[in-house]
Amino acid sequence: MSATMTVLTGIKPTGPLHIGNYLGAIRPANELARRPEYRPFLFIADYHALTLTGMRDPAEFRRYSREVAAGWLALGLDTSRTVFYRQSDIPEVFELAWILSCTTPKGLMDRAHAYKAAVQQNAEVGADPDAGVNMGLYNYPILMAADILLLRADLVPVGRDQAQHLEFARDIAQYFNAAYRPVLTLPEPLIRDDVAVIAGTDGRKMSKSYRNVIPLFAPPQELRKSVMRIVTDSSAPEEPKDPATSILFAIYREFAAPEQVEAMRERYRVGVSWGEVKEELFSLLDSFLSGPRRTYEEYMANPDRIEAILREGAERARAEARPVIEDMRRAIGRT
Ligand code: TRP
Repeated sequence: MSATMTVLTGIKPTGPLHIGNYLGAIRPANELARRPEYRPFLFIADYHALTLTGMRDPAEFRRYSREVAAGWLALGLDTSRTVFYRQSDIPEVFELAWILSCTTPKGLMDRAHAYKAAVQQNAEVGADPDAGVNMGLYNYPILMAADILLLRADLVPVGRDQAQHLEFARDIAQYFNAAYRPVLTLPEPLIRDDVAVIAGTDGRKMSKSYRNVIPLFAPPQELRKSVMRIVTDSSAPEEPKDPATSILFAIYREFAAPEQVEAMRERYRVGVSWGEVKEELFSLLDSFLSGPRRTYEEYMANPDRIEAILREGAERARAEARPVIEDMRRAIGRT
């Protein structure tokens, strides 16, 4: 491993950004990217989103990628230190994915959690096991391995839900290295258990598909509405409340300063009305987001600026990728 480690991670653009995306992916990635011991590669995994049948509206597909780019930039991504790009701008990724698919046993993909879950769901309703499963979903882990291996990533920060994909990326690299010669670097996962899994307004994991998100870049009135929708228990204002079971508190603590968190904890202890907590959470979020929201809107009004940034990032990523893909081609005898 070199003195500065290559750290790489991607975000799949599947809908408008929400605070779960910020706390779970964008904030931790931006924090890592600021550390001098890392060379960060951050990218928009747009072709991974194509596996979802709900992503077949071209206008939406285009918009979600732009929204992730604008949002990531607005929330503090430092492009002077970071190679920031869009997966589909790197044709070498797809060449590598094909080569890797030829040394990866099919059985490995059969064991993938996402694929198995789809098969299981079909079994429950008595459907054909592979109903609704496209080859993109099936090959998803190989494409993800290609993202990682093409840039010789040392470290890949991801949420717990991506742990198996990281194991697969290592396995896939080893299958290739064993079949030909050791060209590929094995990545280390950085599973971030310290990163909060944020509950949505209904208490389930915050996710677009549950319609329980708190948006990052919606106008203040909409942000306020989503905060007001957060579920609370039926305790009276003067009753003491438990911060540990409160979604409002869990979100509040992620954005507030330590002394604000302590003050809020004390108010829970003596009793506070949920309405008051909601108002405070809203104003905290709104003041945190007002700057990024402006920057975001500027980017969204200037898609050419976003494109220029991503193109520049793609050039830098491709310059890094070229020796790796060339080494791969030599290893298989293509050149
Ligand atoms: N599969 C990841 C997710 O859904 C996104 C992703 C694609 C990724 N390629 C990657 C993450 C490479 C890390 C490294 O969150």
